[in-house]
Amino acid sequence: MEPGSRIKLFWRAVLLLAIAICCAQFIRPALPNPPVTADLQAPDDVKFVLKTSCYNCHSNETKLSWFDRPVPAIWLVSRDVKSARARLNFSDFAKLPPGQQKGFVFEAISQIELGAMPPTQYERLHHESAVTPEQLATLKKYALSLVPDKTATAEEVKAADDEYAHWIASGNAAATKVSPAPNGMAFLPDYENWRAISSTQRGDNYTLRQILGNDIAIKAVAENHINPWPDGAALAKVAWLEQTDEKGMAKIGKFVQVEFMVRDRQKYATTLGWGFARWRGTDLKPYGKDANFAGECVGCHRPLVNSNYVFTQPLGAQR
Ligand code: HEC
Ligand code: HEC
Repeated sequence: MEPGSRIKLFWRAVLLLAIAICCAQFIRPALPNPPVTADLQAPDDVKFVLKTSCYNCHSNETKLSWFDRPVPAIWLVSRDVKSARARLNFSDFAKLPPGQQKGFVFEAISQIELGAMPPTQYERLHHESAVTPEQLATLKKYALSLVPDKTATAEEVKAADDEYAHWIASGNAAATKVSPAPNGMAFLPDYENWRAISSTQRGDNYTLRQILGNDIAIKAVAENHINPWPDGAALAKVAWLEQTDEKGMAKIGKFVQVEFMVRDRQKYATTLGWGFARWRGTDLKPYGKDANFAGECVGCHRPLVNSNYVFTQPLGAQR
């Protein structure tokens, strides 16, 4: 081929590509902003943080930047906005029951603290969306203001102490006849002998939680092999109600639930490579009507893609 015609061919290809990109601009998803019916009610400083960092995806007030508009960016943006709104929409927030609103505020804080929200790629392009430490403190102060102090009576404290003593002494023995979870996962009565990785407190629903790990999990933490966690690793989260006694001391109250995440990449491929299950109450009733219950677990844990879907950052382990 003549060098001249080769150059012509090149420019023809460039032209075709340019036309294709222009045409693709017409294949754009509709991303309307439905009316705002029940916007989050919160102090101005709190709303300011959420508006600058979260509202573009989690509300009906999405404002696109010029660089979000061309195809293919708009395809990715509209997919994100749709799934973000489906999970948490601040424009409908005031309609939710108060307990659920509080829950979302605390959940939002943990997602921000772990660097999962706003999503990393988004934050890289939209610098103003990064939540500063001062802004995070504003959100935390607000979250605490939502939970009034509650003092337990002496009887309540005693009942809870007795129950906890019983759990320590014989919890396993009572737990041998527990039904499996709706997704087939068996109860793991041995969890009480696992080792503590961390403990957390959730002010919104007055619970104290312990995060425990089985031997494989503890070894993985020691060797810093937790991203991804190895198959066979199992994590438990045990929750008790938190009681404040008359001296203002926070204490373990009634047992609420225990839940597990068991790592098996193949068996649990459809739920992020983790088997999820939860048992509630001292009678350890399996949680969930059918196997779809795990969708709820996945919804909250999936954004933690950078830490293999685990919230807890064990002490001493780097991400
Ligand atoms: C670029 C869009 C985007 C931005 C900005 C964004 N999120 Fe998200 N968020 C998502 C998507 C998408 C999901 C659903 C993740 C999934 O299911 O994989 C999600 C999920 C969540 C969830 C889990 C909800 C649930 O219960 O399932 C919380 C909480 C959350 N985001 C909080 C925030 C907060 C707080 C901010 C602001 C600091 C924020 N997000 C900013 C896209 C976004
Ligand atoms: C509303 C959001 C949310 C939902 C829904 C959720 N989790 Fe979690 N999960 C968390 C948070 C936040 C933590 C971190 C510990 C804490 O704050 O108590 C956590 C921690 C855990 C842990 C300890 C390991 C870790 O990731 O830190 C297990 C095990 C667990 N969850 C199991 C489950 C199971 C099983 C389900 C479903 C039945 C479920 N979770 C549903 C938010 C959620």
